[in-house]
Amino acid sequence: MTSKNVELELVWLILAAVIGACVFLFDFPKKINEWYYVIRLGKKKHSYLPPGDMGWPFIGNMISFVRAFRSQNPDSFVNNLVHRYGHTGIYKTSLFGNPSIIVCSPELCRKVLTDDERFEYGYPSSLNNLLGEHRSLHSVSNSEHRYLRKLLISPINGHESLSKHIGYIEDVVVSSLEEWAHNNSPIELLTELKKINFKVMTRILMGSADYISESMTKQYAQLFQGLMSPLPIDVPGFTFHRAIQARKTLLNVFQAHLDERKCKNDDGLNIKKGMIDLLLEAKDEDGEKLDNELIVNLLLGFLLAGHETTAHAALWLTVYLHNHPEVLQKVREEQVEILKSRQSSQKGLTLNEIRRMEYLSKAFDETMRLCGMPFAIFRKTNNDVEVDGYIIPKGWKVLVWNRAIHLNSEFYSNPKDFIPSRWDNLKPKAGSFIPFGAGSRTCPGADLSKVEMYIFIHYFVLNYSFEQINPKSPVIFPNPSPIDNCLAKVKWMTGLRVDCLSLGGYLFSGSGRLGIAFHEFHAGSLWLSRLEVGLSKQYSGWMRELSIVAAGFRVSC
Ligand code: HEM
Repeated sequence: MTSKNVELELVWLILAAVIGACVFLFDFPKKINEWYYVIRLGKKKHSYLPPGDMGWPFIGNMISFVRAFRSQNPDSFVNNLVHRYGHTGIYKTSLFGNPSIIVCSPELCRKVLTDDERFEYGYPSSLNNLLGEHRSLHSVSNSEHRYLRKLLISPINGHESLSKHIGYIEDVVVSSLEEWAHNNSPIELLTELKKINFKVMTRILMGSADYISESMTKQYAQLFQGLMSPLPIDVPGFTFHRAIQARKTLLNVFQAHLDERKCKNDDGLNIKKGMIDLLLEAKDEDGEKLDNELIVNLLLGFLLAGHETTAHAALWLTVYLHNHPEVLQKVREEQVEILKSRQSSQKGLTLNEIRRMEYLSKAFDETMRLCGMPFAIFRKTNNDVEVDGYIIPKGWKVLVWNRAIHLNSEFYSNPKDFIPSRWDNLKPKAGSFIPFGAGSRTCPGADLSKVEMYIFIHYFVLNYSFEQINPKSPVIFPNPSPIDNCLAKVKWMTGLRVDCLSLGGYLFSGSGRLGIAFHEFHAGSLWLSRLEVGLSKQYSGWMRELSIVAAGFRVSC
């Protein structure tokens, strides 16, 4: 053997040793995890598990999950599974400390969400701890859940209840928009939208928005951040710890309101009633009053569910509209039509008008499809369950990954594009459009959140222009938020403002139009909601159209 051959063999040997060490270091621990969760189920069961990979001991696949959701491409997590294991629509993994199954086909998602017998609530422990581990909508039995849900949805569903909230929502929206426009510096749109929704939800829960304090909204922001904590460690310095502290503070606030309300109700004082009073008066199936712990957790959870998600959705709707001027124009025209067909004596929007905003509703659906929120809905099996020839073992989590369905080109062509017209004749296949979930846990606030958003868009697109300061600002997930909270300038949609007497008048020449708009004037207690006289100028200065949009008076309180 020549010395050259010996050298070559040595190189091969070292290479083999390095490869072996890599396999050992990186694959062996993974094998252990696979064995820990999968092999010990027994050959019969484990061969029927969906394809996938259980990741590393203890942390499972959390590193790839966090890496994907911290990148600008959160879909890479599921796409990677599809790439490795094919389009099975069901994969095994390990996330948030639990062996889990991801489902991302419409049929399977529907099956999981509508079968309460075999799939129970299964959110990560961080969320359960923060919303009430023992007594909350998330943790009560199915029959108690049915009863509580009936009670809770009555103030936010149906024509009569929703109509009652419109006037207040309008007041909050109109005054917030004015404030933003008067403020010459940019606003954080997401933060401001949260404040609007917080006021609305507080009023629905407590009967009045006087209960809000600046610190309460901050506590809520901290609580929200901890819900999907990848490291639910209750030690100072960790997000989860801050969220736990925020929960404690908020519970104390709610408890104090509850005690105060009990006294006031006992004294027969005439106070504006909210959901809190319904809960105080309610009796459960055994005729017992609801316990304090449950009431306080319900209020805490409702306020959280009600303001964060709606604010995010309203943000993306606003951003998508302004990034697509042709869509914005159509939304605006629809709103103008609504004003035109209104009786001059009418004050503000009605629910029937909101229901006539068909084009806006398509833009809304498209927003919900695209923004991918929530990214998944969590369940847990209470027994071994067989679906589509696969076994999901007892106690495993099932993650209905709606984000993957909403962005799947099989169901939506050009899935990453914002195309409201795709909804013109589209009847989504069952389970392929589930932004509000499905089955007995479907979001009870869906209609209310639409009403809030449509009112906001109505006043916004008719009166204001919007300019994002950092349109390319990176987005953070899982609840998609621009890193700068969408810093933006909101201005009256006018070129030159002419103030006459106490009237607010506008001569404007934006978007190729000339005209006068009295958006608002105050004279005593009279409020002229909107008068717009517009002359449209198209093609080298020709006046083409004169439109008198609407004049409405209302007595403002
Ligand atoms: C765009 C806004 C919203 C989105 C995307 C959204 C999404 C969802 C989804 C997907 C679920 C189902 C969770 C599951 O099955 O595990 C849900 C449940 C829930 N949502 Fe919403 N939601 C929104 C607005 C609201 C509002 C405004 C409220 C309150 C007024 C609300 C209150 C709730 C409550 C209480 C539940 C739990 C229902 C139950 O367990 O029976 N949500 N939401």
